[in-house]
Amino acid sequence: MKNALLPLLAVAAIGCPKSGDKPKPVAEPARRDALPKVDDPTLPPAAALPAMPAGLPDVPANPRVTPDAVAFGEVLFRDPQLSHDRSRSCATCHDPAHGFSGDVATAADGKPNFRRSPALVNLAWVKDLGWDGRYASISDLLPPHIKGQLGEAIEPLANRLAENPLYHAHVARIGGTPRDAITQALEAYVLTRYDGDAPWDSLERTALSRPGTTPSDPIVAGYQLFMGKAQCGVCHPPPLYTDGGYHRVAGNPLSDPGRGKIDPALAGAFRTPTLRGAARRPAFFHTGSAKSLDDVVLHYQQEAAVVNPDPAVIDPLVSKIRISAGEAKDLVAFLRALSAQ
Ligand code: HEC
Ligand code: HEC
Repeated sequence: MKNALLPLLAVAAIGCPKSGDKPKPVAEPARRDALPKVDDPTLPPAAALPAMPAGLPDVPANPRVTPDAVAFGEVLFRDPQLSHDRSRSCATCHDPAHGFSGDVATAADGKPNFRRSPALVNLAWVKDLGWDGRYASISDLLPPHIKGQLGEAIEPLANRLAENPLYHAHVARIGGTPRDAITQALEAYVLTRYDGDAPWDSLERTALSRPGTTPSDPIVAGYQLFMGKAQCGVCHPPPLYTDGGYHRVAGNPLSDPGRGKIDPALAGAFRTPTLRGAARRPAFFHTGSAKSLDDVVLHYQQEAAVVNPDPAVIDPLVSKIRISAGEAKDLVAFLRALSAQ
């Protein structure tokens, strides 16, 4: 299969004008035809796109999210061939077993990252990426991210990967240059990691149809705290349990500028993560400072107890949080019920 491509590549090479040649009025080949389309019998048909789980809002159709792209993205995401020394993949830091997240990891240069690896779930609804939202899209994020975390520039990496016959077939099935196809594939895979259909989604339908009753179920009690005096729902509103905004709640020991890089008024603020699937994460907050949901709730309780907090350090809303030790348990029970089993 590979050999059959050689004559075509040779023609393409001859077609390149040498320096000094007069430019010919030849139409540029469309970028999407950079590799010829092939029906490679070795590739099984791609699975249908993942279904939208219960509890999540509709997501606008995205023409880049195709079954072929998701199928290729799934293989790429776990392949250590993506790193310069073949030691790590996207999944090393964004571990699928932990809701596509991780603690603070070392970057490709061997130095620890400033921030922990966020959960790559429900990103189809996220406008700006990174803890500080500095990237407008996943295709903007990937080139610097791959260079920094995996150690190679995206273009040579993509060309190297496309030498693998299986990957060559994937690139050809998607169309475009290796770089375009690999970007689209990783983007499509990441954008379809939906996290929904949690125990709370089914409980919510029955529990909330009985307003005014005293909840005996700790999960229902936890929900009422979450939406009420614990203030959580202000910044983590359902159904995605994030407002998509930037706040200071977690402490910032490394004086990371956070959103301040884009908006100086928000120095030290970070994007509110979704709480769906949070029970699977090994660490919490951009620093990874909390290691369990109990730690997170304790952190909020402790910050709420600080007298005259500095709004440049902690959001004033946090000082309004009121939760007793017993209520903290209910709150954690509710947070756990936001993760599918
Ligand atoms: C060495 C660890 C590491 C590796 C490997 C890694 N990432 Fe990340 N990833 C991170 C960290 C840390 C962040 C947060 C960056 C920031 O906020 O500046 C992040 C952020 C992201 C985001 C933004 C998520 C959000 O909520 O804004 C996406 C998307 C992403 N990574 C995808 C990938 C993909 C795809 C790969 C493989 C090509 C990959 N990552 C490899 C550590 C890693
Ligand atoms: C003022 C807005 C705000 C309020 C109120 C708030 N949060 Fe947060 N929450 C955030 C932001 C922003 C982050 C990320 C902060 C960071 O990492 O620096 C966060 C992070 C978290 C995380 C960690 C998620 C992860 O993946 O790292 C959990 C869990 C959480 N909040 C639960 C709660 C609970 C429970 C409450 C109520 C007691 C609450 N939050 C109240 C804004 C808020």
